[in-house]
Amino acid sequence: MSETPQPADLIVFGGTGDLSMRKLLPALYHSDRAGLLAPSTRVIAMSRGGLDDADFRGKVDAEVRGSVPVDDPGTWQRFLGRLHHVSVDIGGQDPTGWARLTGLLAGYEHRARVFYLASPPMTFGPFCREAHRAGLVTPASRVVLEKPLGRDLTSALRINDEVGAIFDERQVYRIDHYLGKETVQNLLVLRFANAFLEPIWNSLWIDHVQITVAETVGTPGRRGYYDHAGALRDMVQNHLLQLLCLVAMEPPSRNDRESIRDEKVKVLQSLRAVTGGEVDRFTVRGQYTAGESGGARVPGYLDEPDRTAPTEASRRVETFAAIRAEVKNWRWAGVPFYLRTGKRMPYRCSEIVVQFKDVPHSIFPGSTPNRLVLRLQPSEGIQLNIMAKEPGAGEVTLKPVPLSLSFAETFTGRVPDAYERLLMDVLAGNPTLFMRRDEVEAAWRWIDPIISEWESRGTAPEPYPAGSAGPASAHELVGRSGRTWHGEGLA
Ligand code: BG6
Repeated sequence: MSETPQPADLIVFGGTGDLSMRKLLPALYHSDRAGLLAPSTRVIAMSRGGLDDADFRGKVDAEVRGSVPVDDPGTWQRFLGRLHHVSVDIGGQDPTGWARLTGLLAGYEHRARVFYLASPPMTFGPFCREAHRAGLVTPASRVVLEKPLGRDLTSALRINDEVGAIFDERQVYRIDHYLGKETVQNLLVLRFANAFLEPIWNSLWIDHVQITVAETVGTPGRRGYYDHAGALRDMVQNHLLQLLCLVAMEPPSRNDRESIRDEKVKVLQSLRAVTGGEVDRFTVRGQYTAGESGGARVPGYLDEPDRTAPTEASRRVETFAAIRAEVKNWRWAGVPFYLRTGKRMPYRCSEIVVQFKDVPHSIFPGSTPNRLVLRLQPSEGIQLNIMAKEPGAGEVTLKPVPLSLSFAETFTGRVPDAYERLLMDVLAGNPTLFMRRDEVEAAWRWIDPIISEWESRGTAPEPYPAGSAGPASAHELVGRSGRTWHGEGLA
């Protein structure tokens, strides 16, 4: 990132939507407060809302101010002053919105111009075409695509082609906010800035890897999106596979825009395909029913409050997914990677567990293999379970004890939200933490056969009560080989 922030125009399509109000605008405010935005940088929200600048600033004042620390009213006012709003209807007949945007951007062609598409994927192509038609795509333009990038390989290819017809791949930033999380980046540092792990980071020493993203939240009000996504598309295709890549990738030769992505894509291409009857053995899908979560009684997926009533699609969609994956290469042959994610789990926990093999020859009874736990959220940290001797005379008694690093205790200062980091990277023109076209497509290529097998069954996912650790089959998935899931209440 350059020392002096360069002036930029950030145009957020879907600028009054949930993502913008909950994540993007707070992240931009934090960056502004930290002096990371150039004085003349502007944020131009685009939506169908029919708002003018003053209306939009009022809306942000009312809805965002309460969620960010406003210690200095001057900074908040400066931030509000950066905001503009343009009303547009993509595919609509009214050109006045584009004309107003053109007016706002005229004379600023030399600046970084970022189009952030915080909108459903079917709008990506039409938006890019209209922006191009309006003459707004400059050589210094970038486009940020929010997930989900399509709902299968075919739609992802189409979107990538449509966007690629207007923007060069170097200008396209496909966001996966997990890559902006501090602890996720720390995983790279842990692996590649320390020497001790690399010699044992392979199938000789590692028994298996678990990647869990458990959430307590359900999906109230999200039926429209979630019924057609499900846990596999919403979480596994992107967040969990990205984590898997970072664990499994080979050391890149440089920390630059392509080297890390080159290595990640090789992992995705090495994933063993799960097809046909294997889908039953290697995957599990579940849907939560009513239960107890966060100390309260909560409804099942089908009874979540929403504007629309549940349909057949609602009955078939999974809110929990678990998969046994394998990376077919020299380093990882035979090492299962267990992935699981679910809504309405007992507690929120995202972690990567690397389970080492037992010592080759044990001279002490009662030893258990080492385990490295990378906790991504909450309470970010790294824990290595090692065997120690319990103090005392007489027989040697072993006990697994944790060597723990808590980021909160070790590093003071605020941990920036993933979007802060990623937005600043886009403004600075650094795509390292964004997904390249071939990565997204390789991920869909692996996910697609699982989805089509699931869909061809036409059956409902296995129920699990809200607040539980997922369906029974998820335990069988790891239990078949004598393993268990990690995590109290999640095992
Ligand atoms: C989003 C999914 O990408 O990630 C949501 O669409 C999910 O369904 C969210 O809740 C989880 O993100 P985080 O940062 O809260 O772990």
